[in-house]
Amino acid sequence: MVTRSEEETVRLGRLIASHLPPGSFLLLSGELGCGKTVLVRGVAEALGIPPDEISSPSFNIVHEYDNLVHVDLYRLEALEQLEDLGFEDFLTDERIKVVEWGKPLKEIVENFVEVECRDRGGEREFTICDPKGKICRLLKTEFGGTDVENS
Ligand SMILES: Nc1ncnc2c1ncn2[C@@H]1O[C@H](COP(=O)(O)OP(=O)(O)OP(=O)(O)O)[C@@H](O)[C@H]1O
Ligand SMILES: [Mg+2]
Repeated sequence: MVTRSEEETVRLGRLIASHLPPGSFLLLSGELGCGKTVLVRGVAEALGIPPDEISSPSFNIVHEYDNLVHVDLYRLEALEQLEDLGFEDFLTDERIKVVEWGKPLKEIVENFVEVECRDRGGEREFTICDPKGKICRLLKTEFGGTDVENS
């Protein structure tokens, strides 16, 4: 799915969030500056959180809201550190957990949707992988793209 502006990426984030079951992990990957945090703004908006409250965590790895947990694992050195972040609690938490640099969590959590972002020079390409398949189909219709990958 291709977005041509920040606004389109925010809209995609909103749409993705609207289909996430409670407690889901949204695992974001992709190079620095590809648009992960912009996508999180859309997720926040869908959950009623003002999008300008979302920032790239610089010191804190975890930002918690009433119904959202925003995690950025860029600075995580080893998975063992997750314990210090209170990660165990997130596993049973009903809030949506959106995790930048979240790929390593694929081995740990079950209820996840994966989003990979690529910088195509101005445009950004988002590949959504939803193991249960439903979100990809729904987004294909709602977002209007034709290049959704489902694996
Ligand atoms: N289509 C687009 N969607 C999202 N952001 C875009 C788009 N086109 C250009 N941009 C720009 O790309 C940047 C994306 O920044 P963002 O902080 O979201 O990246 P990130 O993936 O979270 O990076 P990091 O890994 O450092 O956390 C912003 O400066 C934004 O204006
Ligand atoms: Mg970011």
